[in-house]
Amino acid sequence: MGATGVPAGAASVAVPDGPVARTSAPAPARQQELLRLLRQDCGSCHGMRLTGGLGPALTPEALSARPEAGLVATIVAGRPGTAMPPWRRFLSEAEAQWLVVRLVSGDVETVRD
Ligand code: HEC
Repeated sequence: MGATGVPAGAASVAVPDGPVARTSAPAPARQQELLRLLRQDCGSCHGMRLTGGLGPALTPEALSARPEAGLVATIVAGRPGTAMPPWRRFLSEAEAQWLVVRLVSGDVETVRD
């Protein structure tokens, strides 16, 4: 379904195995923004508690068997042909890595607003 061409990056995102780098955490205020994005935007498909909906569960149990780098690539580039959209306009790859580390460890609480 490539309407107007190949989605940029979809084919070029390398998907190595193994854990992603734990370096370069976003600034604290940006971390809160990312966690809110996770609840509000990702949660609309993956469930308010990330236990699944239109999209699969993003709980530590569900993600334990998945290579983290592949999850990062999925967030950044989306999954063409599925409802999972690319998020590269809203977050960097480093920020996606940070989110994946939080998802895998189940540490996704936001500040209350
Ligand atoms: C419009 C609905 C939708 C939204 C919004 C959405 N996703 Fe998804 N996501 C999906 C679907 C559907 C899949 C499963 C794709 C497939 O069939 O391979 C998926 C797959 C994933 C996967 C791979 C899970 C696995 O088990 O391999 C991750 C990680 C993920 N999404 C994270 C996110 C994050 C983080 C956000 C927010 C930044 C987000 N998604 C927003 C629909 C969505």
